[in-house]
Amino acid sequence: MTQKVLFVCLGNICRSPIAEAVFQNLVNQKGLSNQWVVDSAAIGPWHVGKQPDHRARQILQNHNIPYNGRARQIEKKDFNEFDFIFGMDEENISDLHSRAPKDSKAKILLLGDFDPEGDKIIRDPYYDDGSEGFEKCYKQCLRASEGFLKQHIN
Ligand code: 4NP
Repeated sequence: MTQKVLFVCLGNICRSPIAEAVFQNLVNQKGLSNQWVVDSAAIGPWHVGKQPDHRARQILQNHNIPYNGRARQIEKKDFNEFDFIFGMDEENISDLHSRAPKDSKAKILLLGDFDPEGDKIIRDPYYDDGSEGFEKCYKQCLRASEGFLKQHIN
């Protein structure tokens, strides 16, 4: 069975591309890439078509994780195509709930709910001066993705 997961943040240029790349890399390493469809999207339209922020790209490169995606905005149909839609913070979750059609199939969840260290909120590092917030985001995404996969691998 294929399961479809969508990672969502405000701009789709910092947190959700990191989450997407980390999750895809994990299922590749575990030999499970045929069982998972992985994507990411933005709440807002501002950066549609753009590559991730240079700091996000650098963090992924530092960890040898490939990423070729471009930002896109979430669409109504995503709520029925994906099984899980992950937000990074509470604002993402409330935005997602307010956009979800009534018959939405997707479970809307905080990615950080699956962090075994209990660090639930993946904060927005976009306005930071440096890249420390991006490294922290990477580590949170890795722990939470591992945590989620443990629960959802048959
Ligand atoms: P992200 O970060 O949601 O992690 O991609 C942001 C990127 C851009 C903006 C906000 C957050 N922005 O307002 O342009």
